[in-house]
Amino acid sequence: MCKSSVHAFLQALPKCEQHIHLEGALHPKVLFSLAQRNNIALPKDDPAFGSPEALLARYQRFTSLDDFLHYYYLGMSVLINAADFESLAFDYFEHAQRDGVQHAEVFFDPQAHTSRGIDLSVVLQGFNAARDRAHRELGISTELIACFLRHLPPADCLASFEHDQLQASFMGGQIAGIGLDSSEKDFPPSLFEELFHRAGKLGLKRTAHAGEEAPADFIRDSLDLLGTTRIDHGRRLPEDPALMQRIVEQKTLLTLCPISNVVLRGVEHVSQLPIRQFIDAGVRFSINSDDPAYFGGYILDNYCAVQEAFGLSTKDWDWICRGAIEGSWCRQERKDELLRALDAVMAEWEGKSLVTSNGFTNGVTNGVTNGVNGH
Ligand code: HPA
Ligand code: ZN
Repeated sequence: MCKSSVHAFLQALPKCEQHIHLEGALHPKVLFSLAQRNNIALPKDDPAFGSPEALLARYQRFTSLDDFLHYYYLGMSVLINAADFESLAFDYFEHAQRDGVQHAEVFFDPQAHTSRGIDLSVVLQGFNAARDRAHRELGISTELIACFLRHLPPADCLASFEHDQLQASFMGGQIAGIGLDSSEKDFPPSLFEELFHRAGKLGLKRTAHAGEEAPADFIRDSLDLLGTTRIDHGRRLPEDPALMQRIVEQKTLLTLCPISNVVLRGVEHVSQLPIRQFIDAGVRFSINSDDPAYFGGYILDNYCAVQEAFGLSTKDWDWICRGAIEGSWCRQERKDELLRALDAVMAEWEGKSLVTSNGFTNGVTNGVTNGVNGH
């Protein structure tokens, strides 16, 4: 746990969260109560679904991305009505606001709902209602990103992209761009060239999960073949120094998710992530929660875990938060507001050291200090 004075600084930083799957904000207790209300049968052959507590305990023993995804897709089967989607998203926005988030670019998985017979209009109605409330009641600006599931055939992804409701949301500006998520290793970016080409022709922003489990080649191919301007995760970038230099020059933003990488066993400890290396080399990155209900940490928990592991300075945090703002997909006027808010926090903390006598040696370790209840 980080020291209280440092915690106050990290909390105060005006944050942009750019890597959060709304379906990944579904906590076991809510999952169970929605299952009951919507009459959805949970798997009987898996003891993890015996109670919310058992499910929470299972989440602390994920063995890989695919092991997590199994529970992630089962979990969202309880989301049926627009009100379910609205309360899921608004719960996340409320937590994000407490953590100092001022701008959130949130993912959702259209195919994971339409494949269960849920009309896309229900999903969009719920998520957009939550976004309106987040703006009005919490002062959080938001963008919505439709992710395509790379474990499904590319033709399914194309058909989903062409869905009337999605096209209307792209044209109307309610959905800012597309992403690519789900199981990574066996599903390279090259499979989705046509999808991303069509999105590019519509002028949509493009991002893709890459370099979470798969090697740096997936990062390069996401840039070259899919035309992405952002990379989700990208933790394996240092394997390719030339690509890293290119990413520095292009100012491509990586959306890192430190606790996620530990819980899904990409690394054993947050301190093994190349965060110091990225700062020193000038790689732009933001710090995010990914699936907070499954990984036991919201965005501020991730900021704290990074601080504990690396003992960063206020200048380092200024660099991180500035990069997150500049790499956002919002209008320039909104970026200017966020930059002014960052300048105000930095002025308040100028000259103060963040390192205490105890240092920051208690970083997040897989399955040990990473409690699913977060802070
Ligand atoms: N990686 C890939 N797909 C996902 C993730 C993730 O971390 N979370 C939800 N879908
Ligand atoms: Zn993700």
